[in-house]
Amino acid sequence: MKTIFEKSKDLDGICLVDDILSDNLESCLPESCLRKDLIGLPSLSELDVMRHYKELGDKNFCIEKGFYPLGSCTMKYNPKVSEYLASLEGFSSLHPLQSDEDSQGALELMYKLQEALKYITGMDAMTLQPAAGAHGELTGMMIVKKYFEVKGEFNRRKVIIPDNAHGTNPASAKMCGFDIIEVKSDSKGQVDLEALKALIDEDVAAIMMTNPNTLGLFEENVLEISKLMHANGSLLYYDGANFNAIMGWTNPALMGFDIVHLNLHKTFATPHGGGGPGAGPVGVVDKLKDFLPVPTIEFDGKIYYRNYDIKHSIGKVKSFYGNFSVLIKAYVYILMMGTNLKLASADAVLNANYLKEKLKNKYELPYDFPCMHEFVISAEKQLKQGVSTLNIAKRLMDYNCHPPTIYFPLIVHEAMMIEPTESESKEVLDNFINVMLKIADEIDNDLQIVLDAPISTPVKKVDETQAARHPNLIYKE
Ligand SMILES: Cc1ncc(COP(=O)(O)O)c(C=O)c1O
Repeated sequence: MKTIFEKSKDLDGICLVDDILSDNLESCLPESCLRKDLIGLPSLSELDVMRHYKELGDKNFCIEKGFYPLGSCTMKYNPKVSEYLASLEGFSSLHPLQSDEDSQGALELMYKLQEALKYITGMDAMTLQPAAGAHGELTGMMIVKKYFEVKGEFNRRKVIIPDNAHGTNPASAKMCGFDIIEVKSDSKGQVDLEALKALIDEDVAAIMMTNPNTLGLFEENVLEISKLMHANGSLLYYDGANFNAIMGWTNPALMGFDIVHLNLHKTFATPHGGGGPGAGPVGVVDKLKDFLPVPTIEFDGKIYYRNYDIKHSIGKVKSFYGNFSVLIKAYVYILMMGTNLKLASADAVLNANYLKEKLKNKYELPYDFPCMHEFVISAEKQLKQGVSTLNIAKRLMDYNCHPPTIYFPLIVHEAMMIEPTESESKEVLDNFINVMLKIADEIDNDLQIVLDAPISTPVKKVDETQAARHPNLIYKE
């Protein structure tokens, strides 16, 4: 007899595979769990349901509809061919518990992606497991912690983080039990070298840096910083969220970093901002490779295999092997782009500088230097006229432009962080410039229209606090 469930105190009897196959499911469930009445779900035809979701989709803004300059998110165009290839049955139907022997194609793809990312970042070893940038940071910080534990340096409890860092940096370090030490930025928007020197002592485990940083500026003192940190026996962590600015021009290994995460869902083709899935592979220098999560994906010259035998591994950080479909898309993108990755970064930087120069007369530019792939302006001047950054962001929606990232980084008041990416044409950039200048004129001449915005979107101006506390979740009004 084939039984699949053990008898439990809740179950009346043992459930048989034969019962399930013959649809006799009632015998598998305790009486108390059996539904007596219909639950009153709306009864709709497939066509009605389809129209409902199409209507909801039409209300949504997306990269297919218009310009999406969301700073720090790299909302580039993601080729549809990567989606198509990721959905091929050989990939999408493969079960993660299948043997290495049966998964050679998938393992080969992961191995070759690791190799490509090692080449691009300059790192010596890689894991593809983390599911996002923040998860990569957590993985990296766990590696830092274990590295010093194995060395017996239990005093290394501090992690230094610049004041313009993304909030996930201190959060990840804190989750690993580190104390967060903030280092100030100087007047050029760079890590203040003198302030940093004063913070370095024998208790510092690591510094976490984003380069280019969240102001879109390249940290010119990065080599000096890595020298100082290494001389102190500390490690350097590279937040690769802004990697789209530097692909092929330089890499974190050349800058002296020991651990790197990449956001595949920003730089390498998976759309960012849809709420996932993402991938945040982590690369490390040679001395840290024995700390990577298990399993690593390896190749012995004949077969690709999962290696669970890693000396000081921090263990598993994700069920199975990461978000495989995202890995496929990144691999396809890298193969398609080849050395053009370098051009993608160059265009991303050119586009950002073009916008910055055209906008800086009407909006304040607190750090007026050549930028990398993004820049941060401020609506401080407009605030004095009675209009906030939030109002400007809402008004942009009336002109079919997604707002940029706002109120981040925290060190810029009324911040707007603009990242055009390499994908956009000059016409699109010029249109955005005209819209931003027009909004500045409206503030000078017809302030109310900006305060009332958005007026042309399906959902008009909302009470943000109430909308978050009392969301309207009914399926039809
Ligand atoms: C600079 C920076 N670091 C880290 C992250 C976290 O990445 P993720 O959203 O993939 O967790 C972000 C996200 O936007 C970021 O901009």
